[in-house]
Amino acid sequence: MHEQTQEITEIILKAKERAVKETGNEPEPELTKALSWPINCTVGPGLEGAIACETKIGYVNGAKGWLIYRGYNIFDLCAYSTFEEVSYLLMYGYLPSESQLSSFKKKLVQYRQMHHTKRLLMSFPIEKMHPMAGLRLGTTLMRQEFTDVDRENYTSNLVKIISADEDSIPMETKPMGEEKAIYEFKQSQREKIIADDLKQASGFESCFHLLAGVATLTGAISRLRQGAMPIENDESLSFAGNLIYTMTGKRPTPTEERIMDVSLILHADHGMNASTFASMVVASTLSDVYLSVGAGIAALQGPLHGGANERVIEMLNEIGSVDNVKSWFEKKRAKKEKIMGFGHRVYKAYDPRAMVLGPLAKFMTKNSNNGKKLFKVAQALEKEVISTLGKEKRIFPNVDFYSGIVYAAMGITAEFYTPIFAVSRVAGWTSRVQEYMCNNRIFRPRAMYTGPFDKEFTPINQRGVSKKSK
Ligand code: SDX
Repeated sequence: MHEQTQEITEIILKAKERAVKETGNEPEPELTKALSWPINCTVGPGLEGAIACETKIGYVNGAKGWLIYRGYNIFDLCAYSTFEEVSYLLMYGYLPSESQLSSFKKKLVQYRQMHHTKRLLMSFPIEKMHPMAGLRLGTTLMRQEFTDVDRENYTSNLVKIISADEDSIPMETKPMGEEKAIYEFKQSQREKIIADDLKQASGFESCFHLLAGVATLTGAISRLRQGAMPIENDESLSFAGNLIYTMTGKRPTPTEERIMDVSLILHADHGMNASTFASMVVASTLSDVYLSVGAGIAALQGPLHGGANERVIEMLNEIGSVDNVKSWFEKKRAKKEKIMGFGHRVYKAYDPRAMVLGPLAKFMTKNSNNGKKLFKVAQALEKEVISTLGKEKRIFPNVDFYSGIVYAAMGITAEFYTPIFAVSRVAGWTSRVQEYMCNNRIFRPRAMYTGPFDKEFTPINQRGVSKKSK
């Protein structure tokens, strides 16, 4: 292991020691037992406390601040594993052998190649969309190109419409700053990696295709948003390294590659969070996994969920210096406004992922004045929040609080922090969709009706000025 990355392993193991000291990781008996349906559970607004299904994929111990994937604690996985290996673990339930991991990696490298999808993406005003909207569009383009679900039930009696293929991309659509629209990619032929079980758009192959493809889309969208052309994947780089490379155009240092890998592991799965639940709801209707992942991306975008990391950086820059933290925080508290990057529906202890990302943010910014300043403001804000809201309402930093500082140190712009979260969470979304589909039941909760009954219908010509109905 590269000597600099050994230092990163030590940082992670120190975070584990802190977690053991501060909390301990005994599982909560009422959330880790086998179920026999129907069950009783106390449900609050937003389905708080509702148990939606059984799972063996992951467990969040909110009271203690522990995160487990398939029985392994997150600290060990960050210290000793890789994102490819963890994705395999989440999907299959066991750590792969060397040969299993090497063929899995080869498959991901193969599925990364999506030249035609990148080309299609460029026929849309990507530079005018939030990257998460571009990602969702990209997953639909993947679905159309690589699976048969549209072909099978798509009865086209339309005359041949102009499709956005190589010859008909409107030439006025060109990346910002380019002299003319240049659409040449090496090997631009329309390769078709159609494995049989890609066709149904809901099997494991489609999940791995999305795992690799959402990273490719993120790289391409990042370059287009910089007014540059998407670049080819570098097969010599790891999943994490290639993500940084295709986003920034610069090969990462071993440290950047390792820290990105750790961050992808930390973001891969997190119980029944809003975006995982959204993707499972779509899958439970027997839709397909491309549209499920599209639903997950849509849900993750929101600032109350994965979108918080982008807003944390805006918030830290708005505060500007350590001296401003106290007054800034007091103003927010007076207005009862939420502080981005803090609080959690499940964690009522320090988020273990922030326990790792905080020290990594410090490590990544130690040689940059701006980075150091940002980190100091973050630390001062954390202190303020924990000494007040932490005590009163168990509000602590969550995964989104430090991740942006880490990515900013890699030269990645804030609008791509949530897409990176999505790249990683495709592993959790697809594993949980596959697990749930083994014993599927369409999700369909109820709503309490508190409206009126027996109202008489009034024909429109007898309705006076509409009064608010009682
Ligand atoms: C993620 O679910 C997951 O696992 C998500 C996630 C994952 O990996 O998938 O962990 C990723 O989404 C992390 C969270 C990122 N979001 C943010 O950082 C946005 C800021 N956080 C809050 O919006 C909030 O904490 C939530 C949305 C995360 C959780 O909200 P809840 O559980 O609905 O809590 P709540 O809004 O009911 O708040 C309870 C109390 C309220 O005070 P009272 O009205 O009781 O007086 O706590 C207060 C809230 O005002 N509160 C906060 C706060 N979060 C909650 N006060 C100030 N700042 C905050 N951040």
